[in-house]
Amino acid sequence: MKIAILPGDGIGTEIVAEAIKVLKALDLSFTMETAPVGGAAYESHGHPLPDSTLQLAKDADAILFGAVGDWKYDSLERALRPEQAILGLRKHLGLFANFRPAICYGQLVNASSLKPELISGLDILIIRELTGDIYFGQPRGRRTATDGHFPGAEEAFDTMRYSKPEIERIAHVAFQAARTRKAAGSEGRVTSVDKANVLETFQFWKDVVTEVGQSYPDIALDHMYVDNAAMQLVKQPKRFDVVVTGNMFGDILSDEASMLTGSIGMLPSASLNSRNQGLYEPSHGSAPDIAGQGVANPLATILSAAMMLRFSLKQPEAAARIEKAVDAVLTQGLRTPDIYSPGTSKVGTREMGDAVVKALVK
Ligand code: IPM
Ligand code: MG
Repeated sequence: MKIAILPGDGIGTEIVAEAIKVLKALDLSFTMETAPVGGAAYESHGHPLPDSTLQLAKDADAILFGAVGDWKYDSLERALRPEQAILGLRKHLGLFANFRPAICYGQLVNASSLKPELISGLDILIIRELTGDIYFGQPRGRRTATDGHFPGAEEAFDTMRYSKPEIERIAHVAFQAARTRKAAGSEGRVTSVDKANVLETFQFWKDVVTEVGQSYPDIALDHMYVDNAAMQLVKQPKRFDVVVTGNMFGDILSDEASMLTGSIGMLPSASLNSRNQGLYEPSHGSAPDIAGQGVANPLATILSAAMMLRFSLKQPEAAARIEKAVDAVLTQGLRTPDIYSPGTSKVGTREMGDAVVKALVK
């Protein structure tokens, strides 16, 4: 088994270093190879996703990814910006299924900006389609308007589109995930989030998800408009079990859901293709404002490494060891600044990683 390590920019290198520490402490047999990505790769290779990095990612069984981006690259042409690295990896590896679990650890109920009773016990899974929608739809660009409110004016446009097979495959992923969760005690519900009241693409989305749902009579299916979903996520988040949605809505709702858990610094994610090859990354970004200070929370990346062991490397026991160790360090009261509350002990990135390693029990 081979893991490609792509730390990236900002806090990416710091948090990935902690996840590597934890992986090494497990005594499993796999190889790791590191390559630059994002702004770091632009500096060293002149491109955010050099061919050598893409090739390494393609050849690996799994990719552990940190984060990319820095304000200093905002003025580069789009194709050279750090974000293109993650979009390129998703596209070239066909990583269409993005799992973003939002679990509120009991120890962190007070770190959330929501009332404890709303989020205590929260365990929801957002499944975001990751290779379609307005993110990748063609055509896109700038041109002179020939119609609309201001003919003759400069305008920009993107294309929102989904094909039936794209919707079907992500719907199957969601229903199957709901089934697995139901076997472990969850409700067995999929909420499909759309904007069918306005957008043709999302009326189609709703129709196709409904059709796929007929093969899963054991799973309840409901539909929700995205604006209402944004509201329900903070009003009664525990009404959700599995949420499935398109690329852009999923981007927005998953950031919102992360705050239910106390900090986006706690949220891991997995992006899988049809061969079960996966890219694992924290749901947060490169946080250039705190980079290099040793204060970033490494737990989202460490938990992403656990997802990697479970999904792509077929090592569920090792994954559970990591998850239990994370739970244990939270119970010990260790907190990076993002999840700190009075009465707990504030620690830095490295101390948190070391504590997880120490808490790993067989
Ligand atoms: C995410 C990020 C990316 C996205 C950016 C960095 C391109 O926000 O993974 O959620 O929009 O998908
Ligand atoms: Mg995002």
